[in-house]
Amino acid sequence: MTSTSTIGEAADLRGAKAGSAGGSLAGKVAIVTGGNSGIGKAIVLELAREGASVVIDYVVQPEATADLVKEVTALGARALGVKADVSQVAELEQLVAATVREYGRLDIMVNNAGIEYRASVLDVTETHYDRVMAINLKGAFFGTQLAARQMIGQGGGGRIINISSVHEDWPMPGNTAYCVSKGGMRMLTRTAGLELAPHGIRVVGVGPGAVATPINTSTIDDPALLTKLDHAIPLGRMAEPAEIGRLVAFLAGADASYLTATTVFADGGLMHTSPGL
Ligand code: BGC
Repeated sequence: MTSTSTIGEAADLRGAKAGSAGGSLAGKVAIVTGGNSGIGKAIVLELAREGASVVIDYVVQPEATADLVKEVTALGARALGVKADVSQVAELEQLVAATVREYGRLDIMVNNAGIEYRASVLDVTETHYDRVMAINLKGAFFGTQLAARQMIGQGGGGRIINISSVHEDWPMPGNTAYCVSKGGMRMLTRTAGLELAPHGIRVVGVGPGAVATPINTSTIDDPALLTKLDHAIPLGRMAEPAEIGRLVAFLAGADASYLTATTVFADGGLMHTSPGL
């Protein structure tokens, strides 16, 4: 166990050394699921800025993927768009295979794809429930499994980052199915983190609060609701996607070498609000 853990650290240190020549993630290969919009897009850009080669997984809006590939290339990094629905294990297998075909390996898996249908527990339909679970939780579960198999096969450890939410721990009335899926991701991160630690693979969750992305369009477009949300956040505003992207780039790098089986929350203090009563 001690010697295999050292493999992971050694891989991290190799990354840091390569980084001195061109970014802390130079020479690393990353997949970002749901990578062509919102938080996923910001993660792609920040990983690329640190020198990683990035595979942008997407399902809709191929033109947004093509634009993002160009943006990454302009940063001097490499990118490839791959269409794959993370709710289908066969498509996730093709995603990992396409990555290895193009770049020879996989070092960083970011399970980011996610959706929500806001509805009370009284109204959630079976179709919506299944869809939320299939994309948010099943996608992250098998994304973790398939990435870990590839990382173990190639050797040298790896990093798996699950983009969860404050709602892996903090209830959101009116969004029950989403909260259930994120609660599942919380235990995926913890349990897989323990199982994969002997292989030098770190598994870390990221729990964003409210971020200015398409998933929050209904709030952003409603001034009264937006003001209410801003007032509820101790830092007084939603996060910009890049603030989450930069956290993921840190977690993927050597400076986060001792973090695993836990979640880092980036929520402007939202989860810890209190009326002081
Ligand atoms: C949800 C948003 C919500 C935010 C803060 C996110 O995970 O997707 O709908 O506004 O958490 O509550």
